[in-house]
Amino acid sequence: MRIRQHVNPRAPHYEQFPGVKPQLDATRELEIEVGCADAQFLFERAARDARAQYVGLEIREELVDLVNRQARLRGVPVLAVFCQAQLHMTQVFAPGTVARAFVNFPDPWFKRRHQNRRMVDAVLADAIAQVTRPDAEVFVQTDVWDIALDALSAFEGDDRFENRAGEWTFWRAGNPYGVRSWREQNAEETGLMVWRLMYRRR
Ligand SMILES: C[S@@+](CC[C@H](N)C(=O)[O-])C[C@H]1O[C@@H](n2cnc3c(N)ncnc32)[C@H](O)[C@@H]1O
Repeated sequence: MRIRQHVNPRAPHYEQFPGVKPQLDATRELEIEVGCADAQFLFERAARDARAQYVGLEIREELVDLVNRQARLRGVPVLAVFCQAQLHMTQVFAPGTVARAFVNFPDPWFKRRHQNRRMVDAVLADAIAQVTRPDAEVFVQTDVWDIALDALSAFEGDDRFENRAGEWTFWRAGNPYGVRSWREQNAEETGLMVWRLMYRRR
């Protein structure tokens, strides 16, 4: 299967929610990854605790199909939803239902001329604020300094989030979740610097 390297999230055909709203179980914890790609992170989370449900949002449809096929084959509670996360997250999840939101290595769009294609901005922070429950954890990681600054500015600018490391401060205690996304694994193996943010939903 051919998987596109990148797609332009500002393309008009992503304006309407293109995916399928998942049927979620309100009695089980809900964890989400925004821009999940192959969902390695969510599959590993599910392997540690299969009682929760794990939903990835992804704009590349081929990856969504791949993740959902893998999840069915393995019989694990992982699901991917085809969407443009900034625009459609609040249609996918009911308000105040997400216990943990992960944004792992969000963007291929690190050049300044592509800045308007980046995923982490005030619109995404607002959508995460709407779908997360009080005390929810929001964890962001990136190996791109400009994206780290975008994320810091987006979440610091929204007073529904409390920075667990202190205002305008990166989280220095590493990834506490015991699993790694493909990009995190790759960044560690090649010795790249990773910036992290940890927020609590007020
Ligand atoms: C660099 S990859 C990282 C994937 C994975 N989180 C990891 O850490 O290995 C970023 C992913 O976000 C997806 N993405 C980018 N913008 C998006 C958007 N607006 N909505 C949903 N997914 C998006 C891309 O298609 C890509 O799969």
